[in-house]
Amino acid sequence: MSFLSNCWYVASWSSDIQDGFVALTILDEPILLYRDSRRVPHALSNRCPHRFAPLSMGYLKDDIVECAYHGLRFGPDGSCVFNPHDPVIAKNARIRTYPIMERDTLLWIWMGEPELAESTPVPDLSERFGSEKFRAVCGSMVMEANYQLIVDNLMDVSHGQFLHADALRFDGFFDASHNISQTAESVTSERRFPGVVGSSSLVKYLPNYTGLVDAWASATWHPAGMCLLDNGGTHVGSPETGGVRRCGVHLLTPETASTTRYFYAHVRNYGLDDVRLDEDSRAWHLSAFAGQDKPMIEAVQRMMGGRSFEEMRPVLVSSDGPAMRARRILRGMIAAEQAAGSSDASPQDS
Ligand code: FES
Ligand SMILES: [Fe+2]
Repeated sequence: MSFLSNCWYVASWSSDIQDGFVALTILDEPILLYRDSRRVPHALSNRCPHRFAPLSMGYLKDDIVECAYHGLRFGPDGSCVFNPHDPVIAKNARIRTYPIMERDTLLWIWMGEPELAESTPVPDLSERFGSEKFRAVCGSMVMEANYQLIVDNLMDVSHGQFLHADALRFDGFFDASHNISQTAESVTSERRFPGVVGSSSLVKYLPNYTGLVDAWASATWHPAGMCLLDNGGTHVGSPETGGVRRCGVHLLTPETASTTRYFYAHVRNYGLDDVRLDEDSRAWHLSAFAGQDKPMIEAVQRMMGGRSFEEMRPVLVSSDGPAMRARRILRGMIAAEQAAGSSDASPQDS
């Protein structure tokens, strides 16, 4: 399985890395996360170069990682700083380090060429996570599915009419025009529903609801697995700013070809001080994400039986347009990255 390496991925919510080690798999690589005594986060390979023990089974002493198996010690720069067996430390006794950034309550990790990390900005989610306009309720889970299957799901809001019919179905969904646009590294799907009877999950939060709403549903994908949603509705003819708006954040970090660490946030523009509505958001995460999306996407993964999406030659419908464009862009980016990697390697190879 090929992944896009030169990309910022979410390693963790900031609050989930406190004292002690956290072991993760990202893009098939074992990662060790921890904070030093100044609370600075570090990401290192979790595989000791001696006998390949997970360093997460070891100890953190004075900001030095000690392997629990034979006692080699490593600094936060990945170098071996102590070998209790020999007076000289072997040159190859070092572990890989990964650039890591803390921003918007998230820890972002760079899995590609380190020098490219500095010139690539971390995605800016400050409006959704840090502004006074919104309140975010966050969560995460592991899905037993390839991350692109989850992108397919998020970029196709039509599945809400069936998989989440209990909360999201309304008449007129398929009558609306569907605008799809893209840039070199993004795809946006946008639908507008003027004068419809709103879904139950929308109208229950719209004050003085009288029967019809102007609703919208949009989703934007960014490589490799970031989907920013914007769904909502307002009284017919009223400005959107006065309506109910939900700007969901969905961040997908591939663990392996068939498992994904999924970070999500329900971000709302109403009831900003009402903590009871936080419970509604958590209930939505449980009922829709964990109870409906997760079992369906994992079942799809199992039905594919290890074959790729392209090998399966799926029937496509018009609602697949945004997801197919995202897949095409990502394929091109991965191919370009691999081509650049092999041309870098060729002078040494020859
Ligand atoms: S495996 Fe780590 S010191 Fe031996
Ligand atoms: Fe869904």
